[in-house]
Amino acid sequence: MLPRFVRPTLSAAQGAKRLSTSARHDTKVAVMGASGGIGQPLSLLLKQSPLVSELSLYDVVNTPGVAADLSHINSAAKVKAYTGPEQLKDSLKGVQVVVIPAGVPRKPGMTRDDLFNTNASIVRDLAQAVAEVSPKALVAIISNPVNSTVPIASEVFNKAGVYDPKRIFGVTTLDIVRANTFIAEAKGYDPATTNVPVIGGHSGITIIPLLSQAKPSASFPEDKVKALTGRIQEAGTEVVKAKAGTGSATLSMAFAGARFAISLIRALNGESNVVECSYVRSDVTDAKYFSTPLLLGKNGVEKNLGYGTLNSYEQVLLKAAIPELKKNIQKGEDFINKK
Ligand code: 2OP
Repeated sequence: MLPRFVRPTLSAAQGAKRLSTSARHDTKVAVMGASGGIGQPLSLLLKQSPLVSELSLYDVVNTPGVAADLSHINSAAKVKAYTGPEQLKDSLKGVQVVVIPAGVPRKPGMTRDDLFNTNASIVRDLAQAVAEVSPKALVAIISNPVNSTVPIASEVFNKAGVYDPKRIFGVTTLDIVRANTFIAEAKGYDPATTNVPVIGGHSGITIIPLLSQAKPSASFPEDKVKALTGRIQEAGTEVVKAKAGTGSATLSMAFAGARFAISLIRALNGESNVVECSYVRSDVTDAKYFSTPLLLGKNGVEKNLGYGTLNSYEQVLLKAAIPELKKNIQKGEDFINKK
């Protein structure tokens, strides 16, 4: 299904009428790291959504320029800039959704885990502020390594006494977006209506695409399944290599982050049947955090839908992913709980 913000638009008059009558548009969203490579296009996509009433842009530099630029777009969302740690808490006042793309990206040869030393403390400090100012917000974490930054944020909330596991999400949507694209390409399907669940985590072998559950169904010979799975697992690295030292995926990640944030808002607005895969606290496997399809509701995760039936190849992928995930989770938890 196309995310709402890229659906064919109504005429201006119809749109204005719809805004003033039916569609709710009172959600305040904060983007933490709004001046960065992901933050800027993500903020643009959110500014386009009629479901966003206010966009709070936080970063350590350059937010006034990004906000001034976006504020000229004739959509309803009001845009406000917050710069530097002294304005951090103000940026989070009254927000219902917080999206966190802040941090540094990979360079060729790096794994997402190599970003841990820099990004762990960035996510910790942002999570601390969210826990203090807007503990009931739904929090979508993009900053890598997601497998560890979600446990980091969760531990921070836990220590602050405000942890609700249903409200903290690791954004894995780009893995689903990529899987949809590659499977649709291979089959000649429309990528916008192809849906391939991807479970597990958000790095290398922890990314587990479930080709057997693709809709419309898509069967391939064994070698092709392996090739497609490997490409989905390493698609982030494909972009890192192509960008040749200038960063990792920003535009496709912004698309994915906006799709996920808008799904959260639709669920907050009471829409039923909003389902997204996301990396959350989970008892579906031995790993404390795990991504599966989730039914989203007003309080975040309404129901974990689990991963359904895996074929034998997918079971092997799952078995390989669990020890790596557990290691990544432990590393995140130790970062907060170490003496
Ligand atoms: C990716 O998958 C940046 O982690 C991001 O490309």
